[in-house]
Amino acid sequence: MATIHVDGRDYEVDGADNLLHACLSLGLDIPYFCWHPAMGSVGACRQCAVKQYKNADDTQGMLVMSCMAPVQDDAYISIEDDEAKAFRANVIEWLMINHPHDCPVCEEGGHCHLQDMTVMTGHDSRRYRFRKRTHQNQDLGPFIGHEMNRCITCYRCVRFYQDYAGGGDLGAFGAHDNVYFGRFQEGTLESPFSGNLTEVCPTGVFTDQTHSEHYTRKWDLQFAPSVCHQCAVGCNISPGERYGDIRRIENRYHGEVNHYFLCDRGRFGYGYVNREDRPRVPEWRERQRVGAEPGETSVVAGTISLEIDDALDRAADGLRNARRVIGIGSPRASLESNHMLRTLVGNANFSTGIAARELELLVRMNELNTRCGLPSPSLREIERCDAVFVLGEDLINSAARMALAIRQAVNAKGEALAAERGIPSWNAEAVKTLAQEAHHPFFLATPDATELDALAEQTYNAAPDDIARLGFAVAHYIDPEAPCPDALDDVTTALASRIAEALMAAQRPLVVSGGSLGTPAVLEAAGNVARALARRTRPGALSLVRREANSTGLSLLGGQSLDWALECLNSGEADGVVILENDLYVRAEAGQVDAALQRADCIVTLDHQRTATWDKADIGLPAASFAESDGTLVSLEGRAQRFYQVFEPSYIRPETRIRESWRWLNALKVSVERQSMAPLTLDEVTRDMAMTYPALAPAGDAGLSAAYRVHGLRLAREPHRYSGRTAMRANLDVSEPRAPQDADTPFAFSMEGYAGYAEPRREVAFAWAPGWNSPQAWNKFQDEVGGHLRAGDPGVRLLGPLPGDYDYARTLPARFAAHDDQWLAVPQARLFGGDETSTRAEPIQARMHETRFTLSRGSAERLRMSSGATLTLNLGERQLTLPVEISDAWPDGVIGVPDQSGLPLAEPEWAHLEPQEVRA
Ligand code: SF4
Ligand code: SF4
Ligand code: FES
Repeated sequence: MATIHVDGRDYEVDGADNLLHACLSLGLDIPYFCWHPAMGSVGACRQCAVKQYKNADDTQGMLVMSCMAPVQDDAYISIEDDEAKAFRANVIEWLMINHPHDCPVCEEGGHCHLQDMTVMTGHDSRRYRFRKRTHQNQDLGPFIGHEMNRCITCYRCVRFYQDYAGGGDLGAFGAHDNVYFGRFQEGTLESPFSGNLTEVCPTGVFTDQTHSEHYTRKWDLQFAPSVCHQCAVGCNISPGERYGDIRRIENRYHGEVNHYFLCDRGRFGYGYVNREDRPRVPEWRERQRVGAEPGETSVVAGTISLEIDDALDRAADGLRNARRVIGIGSPRASLESNHMLRTLVGNANFSTGIAARELELLVRMNELNTRCGLPSPSLREIERCDAVFVLGEDLINSAARMALAIRQAVNAKGEALAAERGIPSWNAEAVKTLAQEAHHPFFLATPDATELDALAEQTYNAAPDDIARLGFAVAHYIDPEAPCPDALDDVTTALASRIAEALMAAQRPLVVSGGSLGTPAVLEAAGNVARALARRTRPGALSLVRREANSTGLSLLGGQSLDWALECLNSGEADGVVILENDLYVRAEAGQVDAALQRADCIVTLDHQRTATWDKADIGLPAASFAESDGTLVSLEGRAQRFYQVFEPSYIRPETRIRESWRWLNALKVSVERQSMAPLTLDEVTRDMAMTYPALAPAGDAGLSAAYRVHGLRLAREPHRYSGRTAMRANLDVSEPRAPQDADTPFAFSMEGYAGYAEPRREVAFAWAPGWNSPQAWNKFQDEVGGHLRAGDPGVRLLGPLPGDYDYARTLPARFAAHDDQWLAVPQARLFGGDETSTRAEPIQARMHETRFTLSRGSAERLRMSSGATLTLNLGERQLTLPVEISDAWPDGVIGVPDQSGLPLAEPEWAHLEPQEVRA
């Protein structure tokens, strides 16, 4: 700690910080541009000048850039000094010389850091009268808009894109006062983190193009604290709504999870909420049976829309008449909705809706996270690890934000080298220059090359069983008591021993694996490495990647597999089914699902998307998406987090009958049991859920109860300047109804309520503080800039290592042997197009690569195929025809089948391949 004296007041600060960081953490305002808490200082913009004095008697002082000046004990500085203020005003005037001053038409306006800093410095009149430099803009693809004339040359964009996120296709071109930030030629930005440019850029150069389509100023958006539903990482988001549409998603700061950054799937994949074809009223499909026997084909005779009571009556009648009703839950639905479904159908009749193999792996991952001796780390903890071993996960595609965290961990070698030389970690350019290509040890074992390969000390591309064997060998070299695979070749032996040494030499080794390859042996191998480290008393962490937003939660809640549910229907054991937010056709083979659903006498589906499963239902109940509901998810870290309703859909569209799934299911239960309806609140459901499942007990405290108040006030969902609030429905009626009332959360659908920053709270709908309208306002909510939220980061952790000794897995796979006439079909995660919901968003569709199989060059030669030629993959009755991509890294005898390609593949299976086009 150090004492600094700022404008006559004394403060205790962290002596390792720079002055800017320290002052901002104290709540003092200094304008800045090029510094970013996640990226450190480069001293490029000269905006953060303050006066520093030698001692208490020095009246002269000297101007220093506060972001480049280390905190020194007993330092005297002045932010308010006239010379410092004049310097800062001049700097911003220079920076703005070529700026177009087009705030009224600029999409950044109203949440622009440049606007805020301009006001803060007092620069309010333009003296420059000459011609401005102008640039051509580029088409950067479906996500990012480009308006280069607004650039103030702070270099944050390239520092984020290249240095932080590892992108190679965005750079700085030119010199002097004519520097251009863009691609060397027009084209889609390749980085899966490109969306962060919209928040990193302090002005309106890079803007959210998906927002431009239906642009609304920040102050006119309604927000709620939410959690990304597009994968299992659990990034915190701040979605903004206007007129019943989600207009954009911005990062919501979480000190342990996503900090300042999201991936592009999470940021731009929200379009499914706004789809016009969404079910918005209950639907009833009259079916006519063809044939007298159960299970004989039925056809839909017609679909009619229903009112809520009618829909509930018909659904309840159907379920009451069924001999046995089962429920199929969903890993993309909240814990509360799954719990209510389980309550409706009974424990013995509840399926998680997850394929058997995937469920088996999820349950195993929970066991490993509690029983192998190493904790499941947050992303912040991952960033602190100093040796990383990844087994079987292509993280950019399966857990993108985690890949970004691992990049920081591996690159942190530069900070370690700098620390040895007394260079502070925030001195970004010095650290980068010193580090050059130095990285912490990083080993990656996957079937294909990945975007993280460039950081790796060594990669290993092999079939899943061989990846597992490498892992088992590593465990053995860490602890000889761990079993060693037989017949290891010299290369694998040498690599395993090298990885073991690196993990043992590290202070905080990290093992990463997951379920993407559908192979238990890969997980067990990762578990053995973790156990071996724990037994050798190495601190460390084990991170296991799950696929969907609530995969972890559902596996903790428990239930049968989807295969069980389909078999129940197929065998006639059950003849009624309630399906919750789950398109069964993306998880199981179409013929199997068809056969099961055809035998059901009553199918009730709840969803917010019109899916193939929805089309098969007798009664379809329109469910709320994440944006219209509250609930709890459990991330892959094991963190239970609450997401809150952003808007009430029936307020803008009175004809809609959308309800939260848990609310529908409660109403259905009441109807089936012919009880009278008692209103149910989220707090009651959450409490009941927490009491029912011991593993989920702490999840009851994951969010704020509806009774939470700040100074007696609810929390505002809308900024204070929210306009047009009395005319939101003027197109429908001149008399404005009362704003919707929220009995489930402390948030109000209104600008009335607490929206400040002074009172610490965990759940912040949108970042705003006086004078701070941009995402930089998060500074005001943190215990120190870039640290944790002052009230603590949201969520509670459910998975932690339990005490005890740990047995090694001892069933080891044999070496992978290619077959002569079959190929091992292996699932392949993919970021864009690999999940059920964001794939329905147009910008994501525009960003998706063509869906292709992956084959090795050797296999392609054998099949006489070239890249782009089509191939049919036969798995028994199932077939899929796609073009082929040839990869030099991919193992022979294996074929990669992308997720969501039309052929659900929960685990590797042997397949016959039939080339449709062969080389002449
Ligand atoms: S484009 Fe934005 S982030 Fe990049 S240098 Fe210009 S102002 Fe800074
Ligand atoms: S990493 Fe996952 S949770 Fe985070 S923003 Fe991307 S899709 Fe969402
Ligand atoms: S913020 Fe200090 S020089 Fe840019």
